Amino acid sequence: MDLNRRNLLCGLGGLAVGGMLAARPESCQAEDTLPFSRFQQMGGDFSWKPHKLEPAESARIAYEAYWHKGYACGFGTFYGIIGVMAEKYGAPYSQFPFSMLEFLKGGIANWGTICGALGAAAAAFSLFYGRKEQNVMVTELYRWYQSTKLPVYNPGTMAKGVKGNIPSNVSESVLCHISVSKWCYANKVEATSKKRSERCGRLTADVCRKAVEILNAKIDAGKTFKGAMPKPESVAYCGDCHQKKGEAVNWGKGVLNCTPCHDGRGALSDKFLNHP
Ligand code: HEC
Ligand code: HEC
Repeated sequence: MDLNRRNLLCGLGGLAVGGMLAARPESCQAEDTLPFSRFQQMGGDFSWKPHKLEPAESARIAYEAYWHKGYACGFGTFYGIIGVMAEKYGAPYSQFPFSMLEFLKGGIANWGTICGALGAAAAAFSLFYGRKEQNVMVTELYRWYQSTKLPVYNPGTMAKGVKGNIPSNVSESVLCHISVSKWCYANKVEATSKKRSERCGRLTADVCRKAVEILNAKIDAGKTFKGAMPKPESVAYCGDCHQKKGEAVNWGKGVLNCTPCHDGRGALSDKFLNHP
């Protein structure tokens, strides 16, 4: 059966992109297992249409989503963008298997790597834009995250973890480990506490709001979209030698702020020696 016909009969378009089999007639599910040509993608690459959203509404929903079944930061941010599109526009957004975003919790399976809220925002952007355009959006969001005092969002009476004000700080880093650990140390809060969860829930709302602002601006500007956040001084300075093509010391991978790891601060001295 030709693909267009299968599409009509089984509504395959969005489903194949979302990578999920929903409840449809069994004959349709059997069709889906038919030969699939290598690297084929329904609708074409990056083919979903982005919609502008209301940043404050998405932030509120992202906060609520953070607490939904404990799916946390990645699910929260992603749902605040793609889930809200699903609620407003239905398919194909509604066919995305949202729960997969749980993997980002704790910086991916509790490994403390990328902040899950940031990983999810990049994933959401990637549904609409290929690498070149998406990198500009991600860079804007990540630079903002590294240099902004977070969290800002306050759910008021809707708070699900801890009510009232929560301290905020500048993480200097997109990594979950650094972002969370610094905040916990500065405020003497256990990393496994409700208060820390509340901090990350609010931060999820902040990241979602900023991501939606970036997406809205991108939709307006199209290919000419440019970020406003400057390159961190450390990346400009260190990168001048360590990230320059042809330089003998061009070894430094990544454009994340170099400062928290390479400026020799106390936390980076040898803790295997003379340490409580
Ligand atoms: C003017 C060029 C230049 C700049 C700017 C520069 N580096 Fe280097 N860096 C070097 C050179 C050359 C070496 C190799 C030295 C060696 O082999 O002993 C090096 C080595 C290193 C090393 C490995 C050896 C070591 O000493 O630990 C690290 C890590 C490093 N640089 C990080 C940084 C960071 C972070 C910055 C920004 C704060 C930076 N560098 C800025 C030239 C530069
Ligand atoms: C999250 C912490 C972190 C950040 C951020 C970071 N680095 Fe590193 N970097 C490391 C660690 C850890 C190593 C490995 C050091 C080792 O084992 O000797 C390393 C290694 C390097 C090396 C190789 C030298 C060596 O001794 O292995 C260079 C050069 C370097 N970093 C430059 C940079 C530059 C430039 C930036 C900013 C663009 C940066 N780093 C950001 C943690 C970081």
